[in-house]
Amino acid sequence: MKDLTPNLSDLDPIEIASRDEIQALQLERLKWSLRHAYDNVPMYKQRFDAAGVHPDDLTSLEDLARFPFTYKDDLRANYPFGLSAVARDQLMRIHASSGTTGKPTVVVYTKNDIEVWSDVLARSLRASGLRAGDIVHNAYGYGLFTGGLGAHYGIERLGATVVPMGGGQTEKQVGLITDFQPQGIMVTPSYMLNILEGFHKAGLDPRESSLQVGVFGAEPWTNAMRLEVEEAFDMHAVDIYGLSEIIGPGVANECVETKDGLHIWEDHFYPEIIDPETGEVLEDGQEGELVFTTLTKEGMPMIRYRTRDLTRLLPGTARSMRRMEKITGRSDDMIILRGVNVFPTQIEEQVMTTEGLAPYFQIELVKSGRMDAMRVHVEAESGADKTAASKKLMKQIKDMVGISTEVVVGGPGSVARSQGKAVRVVDNRDKG
Ligand code: DLL
Repeated sequence: MKDLTPNLSDLDPIEIASRDEIQALQLERLKWSLRHAYDNVPMYKQRFDAAGVHPDDLTSLEDLARFPFTYKDDLRANYPFGLSAVARDQLMRIHASSGTTGKPTVVVYTKNDIEVWSDVLARSLRASGLRAGDIVHNAYGYGLFTGGLGAHYGIERLGATVVPMGGGQTEKQVGLITDFQPQGIMVTPSYMLNILEGFHKAGLDPRESSLQVGVFGAEPWTNAMRLEVEEAFDMHAVDIYGLSEIIGPGVANECVETKDGLHIWEDHFYPEIIDPETGEVLEDGQEGELVFTTLTKEGMPMIRYRTRDLTRLLPGTARSMRRMEKITGRSDDMIILRGVNVFPTQIEEQVMTTEGLAPYFQIELVKSGRMDAMRVHVEAESGADKTAASKKLMKQIKDMVGISTEVVVGGPGSVARSQGKAVRVVDNRDKG
């Protein structure tokens, strides 16, 4: 793999500024953001008043802990524009989550918000090893989802050339990658595996493709998956994180030269880790729920937004901004099986490292008598011994995760393929 370390002179100076400088900027911006939310969004005024806090009470970053949390349900309750802090005609863009149940959650952006988003996305791409003049194939879904357009504007801001492919049509994706020779690809890691399959189906060697770096996110993925994709394509696989409520993709990104967790762009998004049960702020290094406060967002400021994502904060390395460890999972995705907490990423790790298995899997939850049970659907690589692979995976999950599972090894294509964010868990517990 090519050394893609960016030149220090190409970085935003604040990325490598001193901690003091970063914190001073955060404090100044945090004061502005609390005031902006309080003065312009009725919900924040009510919440702050009810909690007996006022934006003027914040004199240090630690004071933020006194302010109330914001939840996804608050976006639903204020559908569609109730959390907007600016006049309707100041909005330049609206995105929304598809939301499987109930109302979608809506997020709004001013012109300046779109500028900031493009800047942090461009910064993320630079950290990933991409630069002006590169071609970037963008296979994140376009539309209301923030992935496609967010990445698109960031690629343009970097000065690179964007191929606005969007999701789906795997055969066409492979054709365009082969013909246009992009250096970079942006896509969910699970859909990248589909593209990999597309290369094989077309009789092409993915290691011979032009791709040097993939910027993967929108769903949890493991270091085992990283190795799988890096080996298959002979390219770097770098993690990008973000969520619509905070801005979209580009809240945090790994550096290609270190791949040791994602640097949070702390000059725009202030992170905290809390105990999800008590709400208490935890020290850096401890695992808990990630909470974000926007520092510069005009259209829809978010104060102490509960992401439900579980991770820890770590000190900076390649940049002075703090890192978050690769996300273990969302608290909503946690499966409790006979008292053991399990995340789909833990199963992914085992599937990726079991010999004879293809990198596709889906977890099915079923009833076994009155108990909940887990069935893991996987596929054997062509020519591999299915029974042996199944036994191996069962043993690895038992040894490494600590739970007994049933493993079903199907033929090629038997596990549902992802078109964007993978559906890792299917709950059939109420079906006979
Ligand atoms: O998924 C934004 C995005 C698009 C990020 C493209 C990266 C690339 P939402 O649809 O609002 O936004 O979903 C946000 O997805 O709270 C996490 O649970 C999960 N997620 C996003 N990135 C990662 C990642 C986009 N790198 C939710 N690792 C977040 C793990 C991620 N989970």
